Amino acid sequence: MADRLLRLRNMTPEVAGLIALLIRSQRSAHVLEIGTSNGYSAIWFADAVRDTDGRVTTVETDVERVEAAVRNIEGAGVSAWVTVVHDDGGNVLAPTLDASVDLVVLDAERPAYADYWPHLRRVLTPYGVVAVDNAVSHGEQLTKFRALLERESGKAGKRVRGASPGGR
Ligand SMILES: C[S@@+](CC[C@H](N)C(=O)[O-])C[C@H]1O[C@@H](n2cnc3c(N)ncnc32)[C@H](O)[C@@H]1O
Repeated sequence: MADRLLRLRNMTPEVAGLIALLIRSQRSAHVLEIGTSNGYSAIWFADAVRDTDGRVTTVETDVERVEAAVRNIEGAGVSAWVTVVHDDGGNVLAPTLDASVDLVVLDAERPAYADYWPHLRRVLTPYGVVAVDNAVSHGEQLTKFRALLERESGKAGKRVRGASPGGR
């Protein structure tokens, strides 16, 4: 296995802390993370959802990492707020209910994110947020995903203009 895939690739504390701040300020009730690794970021998010009466679902394909995450989350005393799912992120998104997730954190294999987009749009609550780790440092792997987001924000702009008092 390539070295990159063997490494745990945890978020930096600055990024995990920023998302935890977003969870608290948005009062997120349901956070869905795709890409658990050993549970480092999930522990930050769990600590935040304790304050919002929320919960975290985090999804990981690698069974050894799932086991490590469960151990680490238990060790941190936050397992009551986290469900670790051993599956592919796409498989978990597909049956997720419409408008049921306040914040999706994408921290897995970036080229797959564009395929997630139809489900992300559907599962997010109004004003829901998608946070993408490494979106700047690995922007070249997100070209298709970014184009989908830009197309969507163009549509939102048209809706807002159409709804304005002047109808412009
Ligand atoms: C960057 S690491 C996640 C780091 C973690 N969020 C943290 O900060 O502690 C990416 C993880 O995503 C997992 N992964 C890759 N593709 C996936 C997929 N389609 N669904 C779920 N997990 C996936 C990898 O096995 C790897 O452990």
